[in-house]
This record gives sequence, C-alpha cells and structure tokens, in this order.
Amino acid sequence: METENSIIVNGEKFICYITEEQIQKRISELADEISRDYAGKIPIFIGVLNGSFIFMADLLKKISIESEVDFFKLSSYGDSKISSGQVKMVKDLNCDPNGRDIIIVEDIVDTGLSIKYIEEIFENYHPNSMRVVTLLLKPERLKYEVKIDYIGFKIPSQFVIGYGLDYQQKYRNLPSIYILSE
Ligand code: IMP
Repeated sequence: METENSIIVNGEKFICYITEEQIQKRISELADEISRDYAGKIPIFIGVLNGSFIFMADLLKKISIESEVDFFKLSSYGDSKISSGQVKMVKDLNCDPNGRDIIIVEDIVDTGLSIKYIEEIFENYHPNSMRVVTLLLKPERLKYEVKIDYIGFKIPSQFVIGYGLDYQQKYRNLPSIYILSE
C-alpha cells in the first residue's frame, strides 16, 4: 500500500520526511559551498557504494569546478536495519589519492564506523587533503569521533529509506527520503 506521504514496507509504515525538492535545494547549496572551497583545485570525489550513488550523481552535476570521480564499496549492514558492526571493503579505489584533494561522499553517517574505517584506509596514503560530505547525519547515533565537513540534513535516529538508501537492498529508487514512523 502506498500514498504520496507514506509507504508500507514489510508491514511497517515509513513517512515521507525529506521531499525531492528539499533534497535538490540542499544539494545545490552544498555543491556551491564545495565549488567555492575548492576553487583552483581538482578534487577527487570518492563515493561510498551502494548508498551514495544517487547523491553522488546529483551533487556532481551541480559542482562547477573540474573534478574526478571514484568509488569505494563497503558493506556493513547486511540485510537488516541494524549495522553488523563490522565493515568490509568490497571494492577498492581505482585512483591514486596521493597528493590529491579527496572528498568522500556518503549517503548517511550513522555510528560513524564506515567513515572511521575509510580514515584508517587513508592512513596508508598521503592525500593533500581529505574531507567528508554526507547527505544525512544521525547525530545521536554517532559512536566514533569522526569529522564530517559538509552535512546535508541532520535527522533523528530512526531508520530511513529512499534516495539511494535501502532496506534489504530495495527502495533505493524512491526520489524522496522516508522515515520509519514510531
Ligand atoms: P555507519 O558506518 O554506522 O555510519 O553507517 C553507514 C552506513 O550504514 C551507510 O552508508 C548506510 O549504508 C547504512 N545506514 C545507516 N543508517 C541507515 C538508514 O537509516 N537506512 C539505510 N541505511 C543506513
């Protein structure tokens, strides 16, 4: 069953929380800020798959400076709503990050474990700089001390789907973000 404002997934109700228009407006603001901050540089945007693929595409279309693109693929959630607490690298980088300005692109920072894991990977490299942009942050869920430089929206601790974010690998294609109603 589905209405414009809610969707039922496995018998649980998710409510539209951030609309397509709100997402696109915020991404334009983030892209302007990043383009200003990196004027004269050629950063490499590194998306964290799978969740970031839609955000990465929409963000990059709005970036007005020269840039390059690469992807990591990490796996931590399996098919449940709760993180397994263990991150695995499923696909490594193709680019050489040494001496480059790196911008990690995440769909959501929850406990911060994935970003911590990525920071540890980068200890083996010597980038000129490294920053993180995330569309969503759940501040109350953070367990690790990580620095997030650009944040789209701060959201409550509930599970969200849509706009790249999945539940059991589905619902990534929803253009808006839906939150599990309590
Ligand atoms: P963290 O490592 O705990 O910060 O979690 C980051 C990853 O967990 C994200 O890249 C997502 O793939 C996944 N994740 C965290 N919260 C949610 C959620 O509410 N919905 C869907 N995926 C989530």
